[in-house]
Amino acid sequence: MSARKGLILAGGTGSRLWPITQGLSKQLMPIYDKPMIYYPLSVLMLTGIREIGIITTPQDQAQFQNLLGDGTQWGVQITWLVQESPDGLAQAYLIAEEFLDGAPSAMVLGDNIFFGHGLPELLASADAQMDGGTVFGYRVADPERYGVVGMDHDGRVTQIIEKPDVPPSNYAVTGLYFLDGSAPDRARAITPSARGELEIVTLLESYLTEGALTVETMGRGYAWLDTGTHASLLDAANFVRTLQSRQGMQTGCPEEIAHGAGWIDDAQLSVLADRYAKTEYGAYLRGLL
Ligand code: DAU
Repeated sequence: MSARKGLILAGGTGSRLWPITQGLSKQLMPIYDKPMIYYPLSVLMLTGIREIGIITTPQDQAQFQNLLGDGTQWGVQITWLVQESPDGLAQAYLIAEEFLDGAPSAMVLGDNIFFGHGLPELLASADAQMDGGTVFGYRVADPERYGVVGMDHDGRVTQIIEKPDVPPSNYAVTGLYFLDGSAPDRARAITPSARGELEIVTLLESYLTEGALTVETMGRGYAWLDTGTHASLLDAANFVRTLQSRQGMQTGCPEEIAHGAGWIDDAQLSVLADRYAKTEYGAYLRGLL
C-alpha cells in the first residue's frame, strides 16, 4: 500500500461536449460499459493508493456519490471535495490541502484513460519517488491541444508549455501527476494565467526549475486516450470494447483491482457480482471468484 494519497479532478463545465454534458458531468459519461471516472480511479488503485479525494463541482457531487459512495465496497476511502468554479487544475492542490495533510499525491484528471502493458510497474516507480514530481510524456499527433514538453539537444526537459501555437515537441504531458508534499505550498505561490486559471504547467515549472521534475515517457505500447471531443469519446469507447471482447478481460475494473490486491475478499466480491448479475460485467466479476 502506498503512503501517497490520490486525487481525482472531476469538475469543469464539460462545455466542449455540450449538449451531452449539459445535464450530466463529463466524468460520468459512459466509456463503453463503465462510467469514465472508473478508468482514472483504477489507475490510482493500481498504484496501491487507498485514500482518494475526489473533486467535483458542487452541483454534480451527489451523482458521483450515488455511484461511488465512500469507497468501502472496493476497500478504499473516498473523501469528497468541491471546486466552486473551474479556476484551473493546480487549484486542486489548494482544495485538497487539508485532505493531503503534507502527504505526497498522485492526481489524475477524471477524463484521462490509460492502458498499457507495464502500467503497474511504471506507476510503482513513480510512487517510489517521494521527493519532487513525476509526470508522463506521451507522443501525440496534435500536441497543440495539450501541455507540451520542450527538450534541449540532450533530451533534457527544459520547459512545459500549455497549448502552444508552435509545439516544441510532439510529447504531451498526460493528466497524471505524482507530486511530493510541497505541491499545495507551490500552488499557493502561483498567479492566475491570462485565461484566469491556476495552470498545472506553472506548478510543474516550479519543480522543473529546481531540477525536481522527472518526465517519464509512455512509449508506443501504451494507450492514452482522449475524451475531449465527441469523436474521441466514441473512439475511447470502441477501444475499450475491442480490447475487452478480444481478451475477455476488463480494463478499468475497480472490483478486480481491489480483489487482486486483497482489499476485498471473495465474499465481498461475490456481493458485488450479484449486484450486476444481469450484465456481462457481473458475469466477469463472478468469473474472478
Ligand atoms: O489531458 C491532459 C491535459 O489536461 C494536459 O496536457 C494539459 O496540460 C492540462 O492543462 C489539461 O488540458 P485540458 O485542455 O484537457 O484541460 P481542461 O481545462 O479541459 O481540464 C481537464 C479536466 O479537468 C476536465 O475534465 C475538466 C477538469 N477541470 C478543469 C479545470 C480547468 C476541473 O475539474 N477543474 C478545473 O478548474
